[in-house]
Amino acid sequence: MSTILVTGGAGYIGSHVARQLGERGEDIVTLDNLSTGFRSAVLHGDLVVGDTGDADLVSRLLHERGIDTIMHFAAHIVVPESVADPLKYYRNNTVNTRNMLECAVNAGVKNFIFSSTAAVYGIPEGGVASEDTPTQPINPYGLSKLMSEWMLRDVAAVTPLNYVALRYFNVAGADPGGRIGQATPEATHLIKVACEHIVGKRDQVSIFGTDFDTPDGTGIRDYIHVEDLAAAHLRALDYLRAGGTSSILNCGYGQGFSVRQVLETVAGIAGQPMNIDEGPRRAGDPPKLVARAERIRSTLDWQPQHADLAGIVASALAWERKLQSSPMT
Ligand code: UFG
Repeated sequence: MSTILVTGGAGYIGSHVARQLGERGEDIVTLDNLSTGFRSAVLHGDLVVGDTGDADLVSRLLHERGIDTIMHFAAHIVVPESVADPLKYYRNNTVNTRNMLECAVNAGVKNFIFSSTAAVYGIPEGGVASEDTPTQPINPYGLSKLMSEWMLRDVAAVTPLNYVALRYFNVAGADPGGRIGQATPEATHLIKVACEHIVGKRDQVSIFGTDFDTPDGTGIRDYIHVEDLAAAHLRALDYLRAGGTSSILNCGYGQGFSVRQVLETVAGIAGQPMNIDEGPRRAGDPPKLVARAERIRSTLDWQPQHADLAGIVASALAWERKLQSSPMT
């Protein structure tokens, strides 16, 4: 029986993937230090509270549980924080991934699925990035993940370990069953922030820049439903188990929406007006970041089921309402 170690499985994306794995009957163990995750988000398998930088703990887990696959989500993800405290990101995201890889190679782990990010592209020409677009991160967060991709590439070249690195675009939405969702305090992501405003947790939403060279002047992103993103991880697992070669794949839909379009959608779904402030640009924001998303479809035979902004927003809003009545623990 194959067992999967899910690091960061008590966090937003990791918990959705772990839930889908559990529903499929996979044997999973979650490793999470609960710095931003929640015990109650772990719906299947055991939770081991610990750190991905703890080599003794990770090695023991890999051996004792007979792990053959690692899905590595545990990371810090706040871009401005990475600018203010780069060494925090290089330790937790890069050095700890190095530790996971060393333990994985020593334990003979076969498959490694890695959470990468569209932030590796920086500001791509034309705002659209394929996997072959040059990687030029503009912040330590993106660089911390890119260095991890490089380590994966170099390790896979000389060991039996194979990997899939998934470069996430803008992830939003929640579990349709309402059990888990994004619960991080002081969230900065647009859809989450807008939903917090709708439920009364914030007085207003700021648009960060209205003078970009885009049709309505606001930033354009490729928003992907967390359920589709999670499904891509299960596909990546099947692909590696079937002998697929190591790959880097964009995770987006290939369609962009502006900040104004997102906010109009939120107001429409909520059926209430929003208090919107038009503010200055946020440092480091590219005008447009949209995926070329053909490769993931052809490589993994991944078919998105939720590629609809209104559906993503409805799901995020339902979760925000639930969270308000019963906070996560
Ligand atoms: N925005 C606002 N107001 C807000 C929040 C965001 O106008 O209150 C705008 C941003 O300026 C941007 C868009 O909404 O144009 C999306 O911003 P998010 O903060 O939701 O997401 P980002 O695109 O900045 O970040 C995402 C991921 C990061 C990743 C990055 C890659 O969340 O992890 O894409 O560029 F690094």
